Amino acid sequence: MKQGFRDALRVLEDAGELRRIKKAVDPRHFSALAAQAKEATFFEAIEGYPSWRAAGALVSTRKRLALAMGCSEADIARRFEDGIRRPVDARLVSDGPCQEVVWQGDAVDLTAIPLPLMHVKDGGPYISATMVVSKDPEYGRNVGSYRLMYRTPRDTGIDLVSSSDMRRYYQRALDAGRPLEIAVAVGVHPYEMLAASYKAPIDVDEYAIAGGLHGAPVDLVRCRTVDLEVPADAELVLEGELLPIGWTADEGPFGEFSHITGDVKWNPIFRVKCITHRRDPIFYMLQMPWENDWLAAPVIEAAGLQALRIASVEPVAIRAPVGGCCYWTLIASIRKRPGEGKNALLALLSVAEVKLAIVTDDDINIYDPDELDWAMTFRIQADHDVLIIPGARGKHIDPSVRAWSLGKGGLPTTAKLGIDATIPEGVPREQYERLRYFAKDAVRLEDYL
Ligand SMILES: Cc1cc2nc3c(=O)[nH]c(=O)nc-3n(C[C@H](O)[C@H](O)[C@H](O)COP(=O)(O)O)c2cc1C
Repeated sequence: MKQGFRDALRVLEDAGELRRIKKAVDPRHFSALAAQAKEATFFEAIEGYPSWRAAGALVSTRKRLALAMGCSEADIARRFEDGIRRPVDARLVSDGPCQEVVWQGDAVDLTAIPLPLMHVKDGGPYISATMVVSKDPEYGRNVGSYRLMYRTPRDTGIDLVSSSDMRRYYQRALDAGRPLEIAVAVGVHPYEMLAASYKAPIDVDEYAIAGGLHGAPVDLVRCRTVDLEVPADAELVLEGELLPIGWTADEGPFGEFSHITGDVKWNPIFRVKCITHRRDPIFYMLQMPWENDWLAAPVIEAAGLQALRIASVEPVAIRAPVGGCCYWTLIASIRKRPGEGKNALLALLSVAEVKLAIVTDDDINIYDPDELDWAMTFRIQADHDVLIIPGARGKHIDPSVRAWSLGKGGLPTTAKLGIDATIPEGVPREQYERLRYFAKDAVRLEDYL
């Protein structure tokens, strides 16, 4: 059976990875408190919001993401690949807990939800854990994750600047002079969040991807005021439309997944027409930047695995380290044949987001930074094993691409760097034989204690 947000909390708690906070907390303090906890946080009481509880930092570490995905930390990419290979269509059901309470018309009031103020320079309180649904007459249903900034009791900003399917849907609605209806589900299982953040082809329904990850259909209910469907087990749903005003309203700044505060952007406005939620709702505060980063990891790692296989290279392990925001860097170990260190680099750097790729042989544990340093020290000759590709597509939020100098609408470029830390061709493997201690198997420390 499909799991929900509350199942994810239970799995974390059973593994000792959830900290319950009983004392009432101001929503402006959620983020700072979650950042100090070693575990995910569950706020059992919220000042001024007696019927709400909140949870955050569910997948702030690779360990917690792996727990949510029911696999080992090394297997998150393969687990994700299995899910997207076997999509399961969503199922429409007649009702669900996400509509136990309905606020419509004058009752709509975003200030009645405990919205967190997360970072020092944020343009306002943000809803960071969104699963946003929209439809296009030609392409069908789309699901993505898009942050929302509180503006008024009925309006939020939305960051729709980067190219995405929903940006395209909005542009098409705008061209036709009409608003774009959207529905926003908050408090869904991490599988739904992964499906939303996955860049599926435009005609693929990401609910089926979420179903593939669950191995069971996602139950959907029809929204009350828009022609859209949302997960029946969501904690909270906002229904409404993106006003046909184009990219004209200021949105941001916001603490980005790059761990840096992003600029103010020009974006559309989301007008909320209806709010539905569970009778005892739990607000999901997705903790920036960590949860955003870790939700990217399986997607980027799976893209790296696929690129390696297309290049006929056999991957052994792959890792998108959090230092590269699980987005800009890929490290892979491969079962190498001559020349494949370089082929692997070309493959990994072909993943659009990846700016730095490192490849090692399969004897290196790429999860151990000391092993990686060792390979980088003794298997690299910089004049042979470093690949620099200038002028590739970059991302605005990387300060080193100097996007501010490009003017409005300018697209930044970046250099990509590949490091081949595999044993160089022509150097015998025996040269790398590790130290072995004399009589290691003959003596046992316990016998001498
Ligand atoms: C937590 C989270 C928040 C995100 N916020 C945004 C955002 O505000 N704007 C954006 O363009 N992309 C954002 N993304 C990335 C998009 O969700 C991602 O590109 C997705 O594939 C877009 O879906 P679509 O192309 O099907 O519309 C976010 C991803 C995650 C995991």
